[in-house]
Order: sequence, then C-alpha cells, then structure tokens
Amino acid sequence: MPENKCLVSGCEALTELAGEELAKELRPGDVVALFGGMGAGKTAFVRGLARGLGISAPVTSPTYTVVNEYAGDVPLFHFDMYRLGGEDELFDIGWEDYLSRGGVCAVEWSENILPALDSGYVRVELRGGFEDPERREIYISRGPDGGCTKEGEQ
Ligand SMILES: Nc1ncnc2c1ncn2[C@@H]1O[C@H](COP(=O)(O)OP(=O)(O)OP(=O)(O)O)[C@@H](O)[C@H]1O
Ligand SMILES: [Mg+2]
Repeated sequence: MPENKCLVSGCEALTELAGEELAKELRPGDVVALFGGMGAGKTAFVRGLARGLGISAPVTSPTYTVVNEYAGDVPLFHFDMYRLGGEDELFDIGWEDYLSRGGVCAVEWSENILPALDSGYVRVELRGGFEDPERREIYISRGPDGGCTKEGEQ
C-alpha cells in the first residue's frame, strides 16, 4: 500500500504522472477508488496508472460501457460508476469477479459503490475549483479514513 500523499498538479500531464507514480506501488488485486467531481481529472489519473502498469493502449473514459479492460502483466480494469443504478447492477457487471482477477481496479465515481468497497483500497481524491483552472490537489491515502500529510509539490 502506498504512503499517504498530497500533491499539487498544475496541468493534465502532471496528474497523469501522479497516476504513473502510484502504479509503481500497486499490487495485483488492488482497488484504486477515485473521488472528485466532473472534470476533476480522474480519467487523466487513470491514463497515468495504465502507463505505469506498462499498458500502451489508449485509455478512454468508460462512461457508457461502465468498465474497460486493458491487458498487461498486471491488467487494468477501469470503471466509471457514474451511471450505475445500484447494488444489483454492480453484481450484473461482475464486480466481485473483477476483484479476484489479479488486476488493478480503478474506479471513477467511487462514491456510488461505497458499500461495496472494503477498507483495503487506495483512496485518490482530486480537487479543483481554484483560481488557476488547471490546478488540482491530489490526495492519496489508504481506505476510507486515511490521513494525509503535506509532502511535496509536483
Ligand atoms: N491539473 C489537471 N489535471 C487533470 N486534468 C486537468 C488539469 N488541468 C486541466 N485539466 C482538464 O480537466 C479535464 C479532466 O478531464 P477528465 O476526463 O480526466 O476528468 P474526470 O474527472 O474523469 O471527469 P468525469 O467525471 O466526467 O469522468 C480535461 O479536460 C483536462 O484537460
Ligand atoms: Mg472520467
């Protein structure tokens, strides 16, 4: 599990880089639960995760497909739960199966599946809305309540 971190990203490429760095600390079976509103940079972060896992396929948002699968030494399962109706649909998409397939599960709109997340996930929250429209704060912590200490800027 990665250390708790707070990063500042000044552009999309740096958010991707933060994802790429996190990927190096992940293990098969890890869940990365992403939080942050529309346009916060969740998909950009996952694009970096994919790169860090050695996946060269272009990462696109699974908004309409719910999940995109990327093959790799450690595969990436990229979920977007924005349109998920409820627990039943989570069962229908095979959530439990994905968890046991030895990949990394990256989940956008994790707030929509909170009851299905156990405490063993990496929490990534992206915050924007600053004076600089490209500024994002990225908080990386463990599980639902991980603390966060300011470590450095990127
Ligand atoms: N520092 C930054 N990090 C990430 N994205 C940035 C940053 N600054 C500006 N952007 C822009 O914000 C947008 C982020 O889009 P992205 O699809 O990654 O967001 P998202 O959180 O996945 O949104 P959604 O909830 O709609 O899926 C892009 O248009 C990107 O260019
Ligand atoms: Mg997205």
